[in-house]
Amino acid sequence: MEKLLGKIVLITGASSGIGEACAYAFAEEGANVIITARRLERLNNLEKDLKEKYNIKVLTYQLDVRNKDKVFEFVNNLPKEWKKIDILINNAGLGRGLEKFYEDNHDSWDEMIDTNVKGLLYVTKAVIPRMVERKSGHIINIGSIAGHEAYSKGAIYCATKHAVSAITKSLRMDVLDKNIRVSSVDPGMVETEFSNVRFYGDTERAKNVYKGITPLTGKDIAEAVIFVATRPAYANINEMIIMPSVQANTFMTYREE
Ligand SMILES: NC(=O)c1ccc[n+]([C@@H]2O[C@H](COP(=O)([O-])OP(=O)(O)OC[C@H]3O[C@@H](n4cnc5c(N)ncnc54)[C@H](OP(=O)(O)O)[C@@H]3O)[C@@H](O)[C@H]2O)c1
Repeated sequence: MEKLLGKIVLITGASSGIGEACAYAFAEEGANVIITARRLERLNNLEKDLKEKYNIKVLTYQLDVRNKDKVFEFVNNLPKEWKKIDILINNAGLGRGLEKFYEDNHDSWDEMIDTNVKGLLYVTKAVIPRMVERKSGHIINIGSIAGHEAYSKGAIYCATKHAVSAITKSLRMDVLDKNIRVSSVDPGMVETEFSNVRFYGDTERAKNVYKGITPLTGKDIAEAVIFVATRPAYANINEMIIMPSVQANTFMTYREE
């Protein structure tokens, strides 16, 4: 797809799931990708594979989006040929626990808020000045259906994704005259490492989340992101909700026995 050929795409949380799938999808279209996350070994393997398969340029950087100083240092000191970020995919994020508010382990709350909300803000704030200067760019946030409806036992995660939705909408207004597009892709259940992380490595509990259903895959979401990124310059997908066919909303899913 010529629209993405040679473009520079920065992806946060590229070491697994949706972020990793986005790295493959953009690389396949000939974009050059900056892949970031905390797990460097995974990123190094991904870089090697992307270069071998797609003959594109890859810049790998170990980045915890919660580290404000490091985020700005990284973006401000990008090598010259990587400075012009065309597309930012704010994907890094996580849920922790699934408990009633009054029984929840509040130690996890900071982690979710710091990653899903503050991390997204830092990366966006670091990247956007050059987009404003150039009057071009596209920011695509990975939100969630949890940013549209709340569900029981998910107050904090839902709050963070509602925040992503609000940031997406407000930012879009702020850059309306700057030729910068702001979109969100908001999935329902996607089978990634998400539930494993949410349940602190309890793989049985994680597997049960997808029991009796066909969930979405990271690749499904990456394809949606590519669609959003390749609309003509005069068109913007404000938000795209994408769900497994058997998931009606956050609390109603049809499962086969
Ligand atoms: N799976 C779903 O059902 C679903 C549904 C709706 C929305 N989402 C959203 O989709 C996004 C991606 O999740 P996923 O499903 O692909 O889960 P995943 O497989 O667990 O991937 C999460 C990614 O985020 C990165 N990450 C987490 N904390 C980070 C931090 N502090 N700094 C930098 N990177 C960090 C992880 O990398 P490291 O651990 O290496 O840092 C990993 O690459 C998240 O924002 C999530 O909320 C997921």
